Amino acid sequence: MSTFPIYRPRRLRANENLRRLIRETTLSVNDLIYPMFVVHGHDTATEISAMPGCYQYSVDKLVSAAKELATLGIPGTILFGIPEEKDPLGSEAYADDGIIQQAVRAVKDAVPDLLVMTDVCLCEYTDHGHCGVVEAGEVQNDPTLELLVKESLSHVRAGADVIAPSDMMDGRVGAIRTALDENGYQNIPIMAYSAKYASAFYGPFREAAESTPQFGDRRAYQMDPANAEEALREVSLDIEEGADILMVKPALAYLDVIHRVKTEFQVPVAAYNVSGEYAMIKAASQNGWIDEPRVAMEVLNSIKRAGADIILTYFAKSVVEWLQ
Ligand code: PBG
Repeated sequence: MSTFPIYRPRRLRANENLRRLIRETTLSVNDLIYPMFVVHGHDTATEISAMPGCYQYSVDKLVSAAKELATLGIPGTILFGIPEEKDPLGSEAYADDGIIQQAVRAVKDAVPDLLVMTDVCLCEYTDHGHCGVVEAGEVQNDPTLELLVKESLSHVRAGADVIAPSDMMDGRVGAIRTALDENGYQNIPIMAYSAKYASAFYGPFREAAESTPQFGDRRAYQMDPANAEEALREVSLDIEEGADILMVKPALAYLDVIHRVKTEFQVPVAAYNVSGEYAMIKAASQNGWIDEPRVAMEVLNSIKRAGADIILTYFAKSVVEWLQ
């Protein structure tokens, strides 16, 4: 490559049209999934204090919110449910009349074209707040798999289009794939939270989903933030077990992991721009310290540039506005 003064990189930065022509990454509405929270009740939308602009919706309000997503052209939503009652085995997670099952039926009924993904995990439904069956103070892997399978089947029976296991138990993708296939759901994709880290960035979500662990933390099943090779092993296992989309979560502090997953495995990669990443930008912009649209778009572009095909983000609706 020629060097200065023959090559002057600034030539192609001189105006917006030149910049548009050589732009390497473009974020579009096609990349986005908007997460939503659903609670029992009627006609309620309670704002989540650490996530301004995000709500816990009753099913009827969720349906209106889903219609708005479809109008904006956003391809899909991922739903999280908050049960009426929590118990040690998270029973409402796999109850056919549970909150998520009601929500999925109502949304698919009203907005059939919107992709409805469901987060498959137990932490919102268990009284101890852990993502699996607890015995002797520890989260048990294999007994949890049976419950995750029941939960997944119950979600697809209600009409879920994509199953997204987020529990980080070993072998869950294979167990869910087998059960889906045996029950005639061989065409339902699995989007696996493959490299899910034990992250402090989930703080605001735990308020939103009322899923804070009542003892200990999730470090015995979610990944150590210091590790990247381990993420590649997790992804490779999930591919072998039948995952269709591989997710890295959180996104911003793990751009290197997104990049390595995309370059080492040529598979569809999703990245979850999580609650804490959203809350930081919201809080700083409310203080007048940063420019929300510009910072949010810069972050989301960086996630795309790192290699993500799909971004789950609470900014999805705003992005559509900002892109116009
Ligand atoms: C459930 C789950 C969590 C998130 C998505 N699914 C929380 C957790 O693992 O504690 C976090 C999402 C966010 O922070 O936006 N296991």
